[in-house]
Amino acid sequence: MRFRATRPSDFADVDVVVVPLFDDKRLPPKGLRKATRAIVDRIAGEPGTAKLYNVTTHFGEKTGRVVVVGGGKRAEYVPERARGIASAAVKSLWRSNAKRVAFFVTSEGIGADNASQSTVEGVIYAMWRPEAHRSRPDERRLPKLTDITLLVDGDVKGVLKRAEVVGEAVNTARRLANEPANLMTPSVLADEARAIAKATGLEVEILDRKRCKALGMNSYLSVAQGSHEPPQFIVLRHKGRGGRGFDIAFVGKGITFDSGGISIKPAEGMYHMKADMTGAATVIAAMGAIARLGPKANVIGIAPCTENLPGGGATKPGDVFTSMSGRTVEVINTDAEGRLVLIDGVTYAQRQGARRVVDVATLTGAIQIALGHHYAGLFGRPQSFVDEVRRVGTEAGDRLWPMPLTDEYRDEIRSDVADITNSAGRDGGASKGAAFIDAVVEDGVEWAHLDIASTYWSDRDRPQSPKGPQGPAVRTLVALAERYAD
Ligand code: BES
Ligand code: MN
Ligand code: ZN
Repeated sequence: MRFRATRPSDFADVDVVVVPLFDDKRLPPKGLRKATRAIVDRIAGEPGTAKLYNVTTHFGEKTGRVVVVGGGKRAEYVPERARGIASAAVKSLWRSNAKRVAFFVTSEGIGADNASQSTVEGVIYAMWRPEAHRSRPDERRLPKLTDITLLVDGDVKGVLKRAEVVGEAVNTARRLANEPANLMTPSVLADEARAIAKATGLEVEILDRKRCKALGMNSYLSVAQGSHEPPQFIVLRHKGRGGRGFDIAFVGKGITFDSGGISIKPAEGMYHMKADMTGAATVIAAMGAIARLGPKANVIGIAPCTENLPGGGATKPGDVFTSMSGRTVEVINTDAEGRLVLIDGVTYAQRQGARRVVDVATLTGAIQIALGHHYAGLFGRPQSFVDEVRRVGTEAGDRLWPMPLTDEYRDEIRSDVADITNSAGRDGGASKGAAFIDAVVEDGVEWAHLDIASTYWSDRDRPQSPKGPQGPAVRTLVALAERYAD
């Protein structure tokens, strides 16, 4: 797909024109041809056509295909709405043969840059579909768009590339999370990381079981014991400023299937756990985008990957392991495996010289209970860093909500036989999960934890994504790398 921007007055040769329609029924002031304007005017006069994301399509000899998308109340127009409007238009074209589309971009209230970036992202998000394994191509429902023209006043070329890179990274994360566990093993995920590194110029290093053992990652490796698939500890580096150390590290939970292990999960809905590597997918996709955008920051992306299965060698409830940090952990519940892999990932990040660490994980069912499916839980320390992650992430388009992490939770995960226990009851489960990771964060390191178990998947269609993997937090990580660049 090619994106370009021109002034509304000089576009030509498109198959579709997309026009947003707000509650005030005010049409784009410039560029609408006479015949098209007449049609849009008529549509605007019909009830409900300005309702948010409502789509009305007109086919005419003089106008070609005109897609009018409801924008809701103009006063409520924000980047999220601009993305939703673009997505709604593209979704209406899924079954058409349209290739070239022109969008009237509404800058009012959010600026031309924001509006253009959001439109491009919205188009790309709607260009992702989950039915990758349908055998008949015509059932894969992939849209055919090739040329997208943004009709906007102002020089927005700079944001088009960034929007494209970020949008594609979100779709990459969705694709990786959508793959079934038999086709997305730790080894396949490592190959995906290698391919992205090669395409974007990242350094890649994959640590095998032996190497991880030598580094003392017994907490991570304890999760891999019950599986025949070899664990793969993925490391990606972007050295944007050169020199030593890393300005920020991202650590993503990479459980390519979470059966629960010996503490096995109930059958219902267990297939969702093919996407328990969404944190890893987020980090890998975001690192690729960061390499393409090239911020002058040193960034390290880490994804400890393994299956969590109940094989004969599996960890048993009550087993004790010494993590890379030296802290000992008692595994009370083998289904609380995410925190076990994350603490060794976070320790590795710190040993690599990272002074800021952000981990991303489908960590707890408890965060779904707390927040539903619209916000990811945000934890960390110090508060100033948590606030900054929230601000940057929200501005980038992710929805993050602050959750408590205080000494009471730290006390509750103390083990009777070791330093910490990986499971201490369902109440406050998301905060206890965060407290477990907190136990290996060194003094002076700024750390944030995103529990995306609430947002990684949707069981219903959303404005910018079909039912399935959502691609959360990719935008946050990319924006953070830019935020901490020189
Ligand atoms: N991967 C799950 C958390 C999860 C649940 C993610 C639902 C997405 C949707 C995690 O490994 C897990 O099983 N957590 C347990 C922890 C408990 C045993 C302390 C949970 O949340 O029940
Ligand atoms: Mn689990
Ligand atoms: Zn899990």
